[in-house]
Amino acid sequence: MHTYARSETAFARGAGALLFDAEGKSWIDALGGIAVNALGHGHPRLVTAIADQAAALIHTSNLYRQPWGEQVALRLARLSGMNAAFFSNSGSEANETALKIARKYQQQQGRSDRAAFVALEQSFHGRTTGAVAVTHNPKYREPFGPLIGPVYFVPPNDVDALRKAFESEPCAMILEPIQGEGGLRVLDEAFLVAARELCDATDTVLIHDEVQCGSGRTGRFLASQWSAAQPDLVTLAKPIAGGLPMSVVLAAEKLEGVLVPGDHGSTFGGGPLASRAALVFLEELEKGLLDTVQARGEQLRDGLEALAAKHPLVVERRGRGLIQGLKLERGASDVVRECFANGLVAATAGGEVIRLLPPYVITEQQLSSALEILDAVLTKIEA
Ligand SMILES: Cc1ncc(COP(=O)(O)O)c(C=O)c1O
Repeated sequence: MHTYARSETAFARGAGALLFDAEGKSWIDALGGIAVNALGHGHPRLVTAIADQAAALIHTSNLYRQPWGEQVALRLARLSGMNAAFFSNSGSEANETALKIARKYQQQQGRSDRAAFVALEQSFHGRTTGAVAVTHNPKYREPFGPLIGPVYFVPPNDVDALRKAFESEPCAMILEPIQGEGGLRVLDEAFLVAARELCDATDTVLIHDEVQCGSGRTGRFLASQWSAAQPDLVTLAKPIAGGLPMSVVLAAEKLEGVLVPGDHGSTFGGGPLASRAALVFLEELEKGLLDTVQARGEQLRDGLEALAAKHPLVVERRGRGLIQGLKLERGASDVVRECFANGLVAATAGGEVIRLLPPYVITEQQLSSALEILDAVLTKIEA
């Protein structure tokens, strides 16, 4: 089906933060398959683990113990401070699960009338019917109605509007601590704390969607770990299995027992192949990769701040760690196209933002080169 507006380019192979086409032309990959390839391309430990596991056992189903998945769950608990994990295969599915947990929790409390959700303007939570219902862009949502709801959309960082939305006595609130598709907006600490306080006061479930901003991308395992406000549920996907499909909902103690056997499931979720890959990714994070992300994130911040100061087309730098970009005073797609023509893979976000989501293993030199290409492209387009 014609659901994607694809570029004509097909990449043939990759190495670290570099991509190559069949003719050997190379690009610096500052997109990582949209926040997926955190270990870059062809990471030796990841490749070996996947090959070993593929030879030993690819899939067994959740009718049997999943020893690799158990190890991943333990590591996720350690890294996140959360209590329980449910595995699935995409960000949308993880959000779908989180919405279901919230609904069941309210029913268990005798509040089955509490069906509403609070979400944010410019949010993106995925394409399944539940996830798209709490996604703001009407273009993604309206052709598929009627969807679950009601859903009250609040402008990000508007605490007064948030208070008003909570008068609906919602079931759950869902937010991205850093909005990805919506334009790399970092939510204010005051807003995150207000959301937590309102959820506490009304026993509303707080879901942090960290599918794009989480799993170490900000230099801490969860973007929420930069805040005093902790979620009840957090969803992760994209890089969590180094490029194989995997997602997870992590639950705090209060919600860990809501789902019981038979309530929910996934044929592939937490299977041996993806779990083995996830274990390599999490081991690399704990072996020092989080520090690398912080260092590269600072380099990127300084470089982008310099570009923002230099180029009249740029309104501001946005984001944190290795989810950063530049907001332009108009649409950014020609800049992204020109970057591509000059050997740099990036993307837009929210139309006017140039979005960079490089692999965590991008080198200092590669990141400098990426910033130089962006600088030259902005200079050319401004002229
Ligand atoms: C914040 C966020 N949530 C959910 C999703 C959906 O993830 P998936 O495409 O894996 O279903 C995305 C994908 O871009 C996302 O950025």
